[in-house]
Amino acid sequence: MAKQEDDFKKVISHAKEYGYVFQSSEIYDGLSAVYDYAQNGAELKKNIREYWWKAMVNLNENIVGIDAAIFMHPTTWKASGHVDAFNDPLIDNKDSKKRYRADVLIEDYVAKIEAKIEKEVAKASKRFGDTFDKKQFLATNQRVVEYQEKADAILKRMGKSLENEDLADVKSLIEELDIACPMSGSKNWTDVKQFNLMFGTKLGASAESAMDLYLRPETAQGIFVNFLNVQKTGRMKIPFGIAQTGKAFRNEIVARQFIFRMREFEQMEMQFFIRPGTQKEWYEKWKENRLKWHLSLGMGEENYRFHDHEKLAHYADAAADIEFRFPFGFKELEGIHSRTDFDLSQHEKFSGKKLQYFDPELKESYVPYVVETSIGLDRMFLAVFSNSLQEEELENNTTRTVLKLPAVLAPTKAAVLPLVKKDGLPDVAHKIIEDLKWDFNVIYDEKDAVGRRYRRQDAAGTPFCITVDHQSLEDQTVTIRHRDTMEQHRVAISEVKSIIHKEVDMRSWLQRMG
Ligand code: GAP
Repeated sequence: MAKQEDDFKKVISHAKEYGYVFQSSEIYDGLSAVYDYAQNGAELKKNIREYWWKAMVNLNENIVGIDAAIFMHPTTWKASGHVDAFNDPLIDNKDSKKRYRADVLIEDYVAKIEAKIEKEVAKASKRFGDTFDKKQFLATNQRVVEYQEKADAILKRMGKSLENEDLADVKSLIEELDIACPMSGSKNWTDVKQFNLMFGTKLGASAESAMDLYLRPETAQGIFVNFLNVQKTGRMKIPFGIAQTGKAFRNEIVARQFIFRMREFEQMEMQFFIRPGTQKEWYEKWKENRLKWHLSLGMGEENYRFHDHEKLAHYADAAADIEFRFPFGFKELEGIHSRTDFDLSQHEKFSGKKLQYFDPELKESYVPYVVETSIGLDRMFLAVFSNSLQEEELENNTTRTVLKLPAVLAPTKAAVLPLVKKDGLPDVAHKIIEDLKWDFNVIYDEKDAVGRRYRRQDAAGTPFCITVDHQSLEDQTVTIRHRDTMEQHRVAISEVKSIIHKEVDMRSWLQRMG
């Protein structure tokens, strides 16, 4: 646990030191769970967004993208169920006065049991070596089976209590498991209460005419209310999808873990409209498709897993998370939800407008069903960033810190470095930049010895360093250094663009999805 915390602290401080993420309003001591993306962070975030948009919108003929407003008519949130049901169960510790999400306390308890299982697996794998069969071990090892049964039983009971709004039982569960306040160790808990997560604001100049609004807690509703507009103007035929990226806001009770749980964050969502009765098939397809998107980035298959929901949101008939191994353990990265016709039917009811589709094949009208994919851009950023940050032992007994971002996402693709600041080398370097900047984000760096510059770019996540030296003046060649292998090759200046292009081209990365 201490190592995990330590690793996570390193991620946070590296993100600040290398211009990725800053605490919001830092000069005023910050604002809790609100963050700003700095010069490198903004680029990385933009590249992730683009990678998603390309895969979801541009590469699918039947998916289009929109950009709906953050402010929506307040009835939207009545219809969607968020006014009545977008709650988190919270519990206070009477001694430390700290507030927690009751379900998160229980999930953290379960995560500790899961960590024990992983420890047993690691021990056994070491003991049995190549002959180790993990599946068999998980199914037959007495201790592991007991741990798993205990974890499953806890989650099942919590899911049931939350579904039945039996908050007294959630509290009993916390007490039975002997869960203590992580800050103070006290077990002196209040009752569990529901807490609505939406932020309210007002629209209008005078107090009398002002209208109460909410900041949207998900981008999805902007898609639902535009369903017919898009279907008609885009002449879309079911099955089809509408995607969008944008800010969402939640008054999270427990805002912690850096950009994992924020009060202002960005979502990338897609609602896929389908014939009623086909939802199971599409739900499975989108689960598979989204996992492939993640795997295309090469961050290790072992770092992902599906988690099927016991407790379903008020709109879903099936739901699963794609979980990622963050520095603090496996946690939700993306949700895939079979939302039935809940949202469109509710908007029909509350608006009095028909939101139906005439299916020319079936020759009938219906309210489409929806399968949704929803990923937090900031969470994806954290997954990519934390997974990429590595300390490497080098052959000469030194270490280097390297941010091995997938090259397609790296904020800066290449740094161009004149070996010295004189003899016309900076001019050659600037000329290379003039040419490359139309295709890639590149930077110029002339400060410090070249070895230090390499280290700086390694830590910033730049996949290539291009060094201009005296030989460059004679034969129009440079050295190109690869961040991950540290290998250097001498190449013609005219080849540099195509070498970089080959490694960062979105097409070849996304083609890995198959
Ligand atoms: N439209 C469905 C929806 O909003 P969700 O599971 O509540 O579902 C989807 O959120 C995704 O949004 C999550 O998987 C997560 O990546 C991201 N997300 C949710 N709350 C967040 C928060 N407070 N901070 C950062 N990301 C968040």
